[in-house]
Amino acid sequence: MEKVDVLLGLQWGDEGKGKVVDVLTPHYEMVCRFQGGPNAGHTLEFDGKKVVLRSIPSGVFQGNKVNVIGNGVVLDPALFRAEAEALEETGVDLTSRLFISKKAHLIMPTHRFLDAAYEKMKGDSKIGTTGKGIGPTYTDKISRNGLRVGDILCDFDTKYAQAKKRHTDILDAYHCDYNLDGIEEEWLKGIEYLRRFQLIDSEHYINAALKSGKKVLAEGAQGTMLDVDFGSYPFVTSSNTVCAGACTGLGVAPRSMGDVYGIFKAYCTRVGSGPFPTELFDETGKLIRDLGHEYGAVTGRERRCGWIDLVALKYAIMINGVNKLIMMKSDVLDQFTTIKACTAYKMEDGEVVKDFPYDITGNIEPVYTELKGWQTDMTQVTSEEQFPAAFSAYIEFLEKELETPIVIVSVGPDRKQTIVR
Ligand code: GDP
Ligand code: IMO
Ligand code: MG
Repeated sequence: MEKVDVLLGLQWGDEGKGKVVDVLTPHYEMVCRFQGGPNAGHTLEFDGKKVVLRSIPSGVFQGNKVNVIGNGVVLDPALFRAEAEALEETGVDLTSRLFISKKAHLIMPTHRFLDAAYEKMKGDSKIGTTGKGIGPTYTDKISRNGLRVGDILCDFDTKYAQAKKRHTDILDAYHCDYNLDGIEEEWLKGIEYLRRFQLIDSEHYINAALKSGKKVLAEGAQGTMLDVDFGSYPFVTSSNTVCAGACTGLGVAPRSMGDVYGIFKAYCTRVGSGPFPTELFDETGKLIRDLGHEYGAVTGRERRCGWIDLVALKYAIMINGVNKLIMMKSDVLDQFTTIKACTAYKMEDGEVVKDFPYDITGNIEPVYTELKGWQTDMTQVTSEEQFPAAFSAYIEFLEKELETPIVIVSVGPDRKQTIVR
């Protein structure tokens, strides 16, 4: 029996998961998304092309590998159709290699309006969601009101009408604006489009693949600090982004979990509201944003930037059982003479803590260790032997602090700009 390897983000998302899943796909027979939905934006660059995937797993470009949208995912048929058709136009044959769980939940147009309405009601304390209806769809799932992909196979019109009425009753009761003209039509076309794909019992399919010795990679979306249980609640997404989410989101037992790849940027970013202890509000923060092109792949929003936070990273490694680390966007720090890494938090009452605390909303002062910058163009580096001494020292420092090896270093957005150690 093979095991499922998991690759997931350790920060607040956008660590570069899409790029690395694409790089690792040749080692696997199957790539599966297990949670999240089109709030994700996973960017892949190869052969001079750039693609942003939102619901489709990032294993679709490396040969004829099987890709699965698991039961833990929430799927918007209209967005899915647009994404899939765009890929098909470039010659990718999706219907033969993309399988969708019947148990995945459907994001309805009214979920999006509810997402917007709940954000508006929160006023200044809004989460800054991606507006894709993620929270309301998972809410319906947990409150046992959701519509699933499998529902399109039987008496769908009635089920849809009932679910829609429940939503419009809420929207009407709170006097929320909504207009389904055109949107609903597109969505229903998306439902029809879904029928051309193999809608499967993915838990059986994946377990049978493991039993027959196939290698499976689970692709996380968002990041550990956005996990609904362990992230900076309530400024989180509505799913379990952590390793355990791969068990429930694919139907694979905990003892079938293999390597856990934890991916992080050489610095840190966050998009949307919520606490971010190492956030930089100065010129350095702006410089990181410009050099790293830190603008959302889905919403185009500016990403907030700061130094790497080892307190949060250690916590993420612990929760996920990460045994292999992947460092991304190292090249973004090429120009800096000094690089800082946060190794502890000085809390408002003066106490210095190294264990990630319950509440990070207060006035936390990061305690920094300063390291020498490498001031070398890393984008041209192709092997570890070419690492400048200061770069190797940064890696060594992180590995020691995090007590986990860094097995892959990324030095640019292209598939080729990846160094496996
Ligand atoms: P994901 O959501 O985790 O897949 O990450 P995103 O695609 O949202 O954001 C990562 C961004 O960084 C994308 O624009 C990538 O093309 C880019 N990227 C990935 N790795 C590197 C790297 O090593 N260096 C640089 N400069 N950019 C990278
Ligand atoms: P990938 O997979 C970064 C953030 C939103 C918001 C919060 C809740 O590309 O790393 P939601 O729409 O999920 O209810 O929004 O989570 N968020 C992400 N931030 N990368 C993502 O995905 C994100 N998906 C959601 O900005 O703060
Ligand atoms: Mg992203």
